[in-house]
Amino acid sequence: MLDEANMAASEREALWLIEAVTGASAATVQAGFGVTEQDCESVLELARRRAAGEPLQYLTGISGFRALELRVGPGTFIPRPETELLVELALARLPPSGVIVDVGTGSGAIALAAAQERPDASVYATEASPGALRWARLNRKRLGLAVELVSGDLLDGLSNDLKGGIDVVVSNPPYVSVGDTSCLPSDVREHEPYEALFAGPDGLEVIVRLAAEAGKWLTPGGWLVLEIGATQGQATANELRRRGYEEVSVYRDLAGRPRTTEGRHR
Ligand SMILES: C[S@@+](CC[C@H](N)C(=O)[O-])C[C@H]1O[C@@H](n2cnc3c(N)ncnc32)[C@H](O)[C@@H]1O
Repeated sequence: MLDEANMAASEREALWLIEAVTGASAATVQAGFGVTEQDCESVLELARRRAAGEPLQYLTGISGFRALELRVGPGTFIPRPETELLVELALARLPPSGVIVDVGTGSGAIALAAAQERPDASVYATEASPGALRWARLNRKRLGLAVELVSGDLLDGLSNDLKGGIDVVVSNPPYVSVGDTSCLPSDVREHEPYEALFAGPDGLEVIVRLAAEAGKWLTPGGWLVLEIGATQGQATANELRRRGYEEVSVYRDLAGRPRTTEGRHR
């Protein structure tokens, strides 16, 4: 079914669906142990839905992110491998016992990874979508990690006590331009939340607002670290400089595409 739907990694995806249904490793299942008629029906149903375009991770309910296994489903963005690099850069800017805020946390991926990898840090996360916030709360509970989750636009929900005291603001914001809707794969376009993907006519709406807002919250010398679209390196670097950030850099991913911008608040 997945082959017929032209799924690039059909065999691997089929094994993941089997593992998700049976709870057993693919090797165990292939050896013929413990698969019931009901399991087969459930796997075929998931394969049908995958072939019809539902994202794999919404069907398995699981997404790996750095060392974490996160729960995901409709209503939240599926964490991407490139965002693992964003965490690396943000944590490199975080001083010992520092304060870090993940803006637009979705499933909680960045904030929860920061809390796990840097138990010395104080980790906050914000999210505007109530549906996404539910997934972040679920993941925080399952993983037992200390992240303060707040609901609100950008940094609005945070306590005023944090103003001027945040060492790192990190974000993988929505950055797709509304005109590029048709460039997205259909499983993304039709299933992941609109507000997680799109940010106005040039895709920069949220980044521009965040660059302005973060300046009010960062400590002098603190860092704003952003994931960006592959064509947004120049524009985001200019925006950060225009807002008074210093030491602005754009980093490339393993494929050589600019995917991260950072700048230091004066
Ligand atoms: C691209 S997703 C990233 C989710 C998660 N950080 C990750 O990397 O997997 C962007 C997230 O930002 C949230 N968001 C969009 N606009 C926002 C705003 N103005 N304030 C707070 N969160 C926002 C979306 O709901 C979505 O969860």
